[in-house]
Amino acid sequence: MSKRTIVALPGDGIGKIVVEESIRVLKAAGFEAEYVEGDIGWEFWRKEGNPLPDRTIQLIEKHKIGLFGAITSKPKDAAFEELAPELQEKGLVYSSPIVGLRQHFGLDICMRPCHTYKGNPLNFIRRGVGDTIEEPEVDVIIFRQNTEGLYGGVEWSNPSDLVYNALLTHPKFVKNFGSVPKEEISVSTRIFTKEGTERILRASFEYARRYGYKSVTLCEKPNVIRETSGMMYKMAMEMQKADFPEIELWNTNIDAQMMWLTKNPENYGVIVAGNMFGDIVSDGFAGLIGGLGFACSAQFNPDTGIGVFEPTHGSAPKYVGYDKSIVNPIAMIESACMMLDFIEENDISTKIRKAVAEVIEEGKVRTYDMMKMPGRPEVIDKGAATTQDMTDAIIAKL
Ligand code: NAI
Ligand code: MG
Repeated sequence: MSKRTIVALPGDGIGKIVVEESIRVLKAAGFEAEYVEGDIGWEFWRKEGNPLPDRTIQLIEKHKIGLFGAITSKPKDAAFEELAPELQEKGLVYSSPIVGLRQHFGLDICMRPCHTYKGNPLNFIRRGVGDTIEEPEVDVIIFRQNTEGLYGGVEWSNPSDLVYNALLTHPKFVKNFGSVPKEEISVSTRIFTKEGTERILRASFEYARRYGYKSVTLCEKPNVIRETSGMMYKMAMEMQKADFPEIELWNTNIDAQMMWLTKNPENYGVIVAGNMFGDIVSDGFAGLIGGLGFACSAQFNPDTGIGVFEPTHGSAPKYVGYDKSIVNPIAMIESACMMLDFIEENDISTKIRKAVAEVIEEGKVRTYDMMKMPGRPEVIDKGAATTQDMTDAIIAKL
C-alpha cells in the first residue's frame, strides 16, 4: 500500500510547536506517512486577506486527513487593523478558518473524549464522607454537532429591513424587542437541521453501542429553547426507542450539567449536544482531567472520510517566543491518536496512548501545568519539563 499523506496544519502560536511534536511521536511509533504543510491562520489573513487559502482546502480535499494545531482569532475591528494596508480597501471580513473548514467539508461530527489519567496531579478530587477525599474516574466522550447552531455564522448587527421585518412577524419579538431601535439590535441565529441533528445523535448512540456504554445523555435545554433543543430531544427519544432500545437516553439541561459534572462525573459516559453546548460541556469535563493540555478532539465527515484532528486549546500566544517551549503536547498527541483510530491504525494509537499513560503515571516528567505553576519561562529552571522533554519521555516509552 502506498504511504499515506497527512496534511499538517500548524496554524499559529503554540499550534506550530505541538503539531511538530505530535509528528515526532507518530514517526517514533512507526506510523508511515508523508506530511505536507497546509497554510492556515492569522499570518495568511494579514498577508492575503484569507486565513484559509484555497490551496489549503485543495490539499485537504486531496489527502483527506488533517492534523491541526491551533489558530489565532481576533475580534472584527482588531482583525481589520492588522490586515495588510493594500487589502484594507477590499471589504474583507475575518472569520475563523477552523469554523470555515468544518463548514466547507461538512465535518459535522466532533468527538471530544475526556478520560482520567492515573497519577495526573491535575485530576479532579472531591470531598467524600467524613474526611475522605475521592478521585472519581472520568470516562466521558462528548459528541458535539460541529457545523450548525450558534456557530453557524448567520448573524447581523443593525439588520437590514428585510431581516428586521421578518423578525417583526414573531409576536415575541414585537413584545420584547419591538421598541428597541433597529440600530441597537444584534442577532445571532441558532439553526438546527433535522439532518445534522439526526447525524450527531446517531453517531453518539452507535458509539455507545460499540463501546458498551449504558446510556447517552442529551445535554441541551429543551424546556426553554423549544424549537432547536426541543427538536433534538424529540428526535433523540424517537431514535432511542426505534433503534437503540438497550441504551438509556438521559436528558440533562446544560446549566444543570455544569453543576452535575463536578458532583458525579463518573455517572456520565456518552454525551451529545449541539454546537455551543457541546463546546461548553467538553471544556467543563476537560477541566476534570487536567485541562487544555489534555483535551483532544476529532472532527470528521463520515460520508467523505475527511477528518481534521486537533487539540481543543487555542494558540496561547503569550507562550510563544520563550527560549524553551513550556506547553503540554499531550492534547495534540492524543488528537493524533484519534486520527490514527479514524484511519484504522489502532495498533499504533494504542501503543502511543499506553506510552502517554505511563509517563503521566510515573510522574517524573511533568510540564508546568501539571506542576500547577503559572506559565512563565522560569518554570523550566524550577523543574518543569519542556514541551520537547515531554515528547521525548513519551517516545522513550514507545
Ligand atoms: P488558549 O487555549 O490558547 O489558551 C488559554 C490558556 O490555556 C493558556 O494561556 C494556557 O494557560 C493554557 N493552555 C492552552 N494550551 C495549553 C497547553 N497545550 N499546555 C498547557 N497549557 C495550555 O485560549 P485563549 O488564550 O483564550 O485564546 C488564544 C487564541 O487562540 C485566541 O486568538 C483564540 O481565538 C484562539 N483559539 C483557537 C482555537 C482553535 O484554534 N481551535 C480554540 C480556542 C482559542
Ligand atoms: Mg471551545
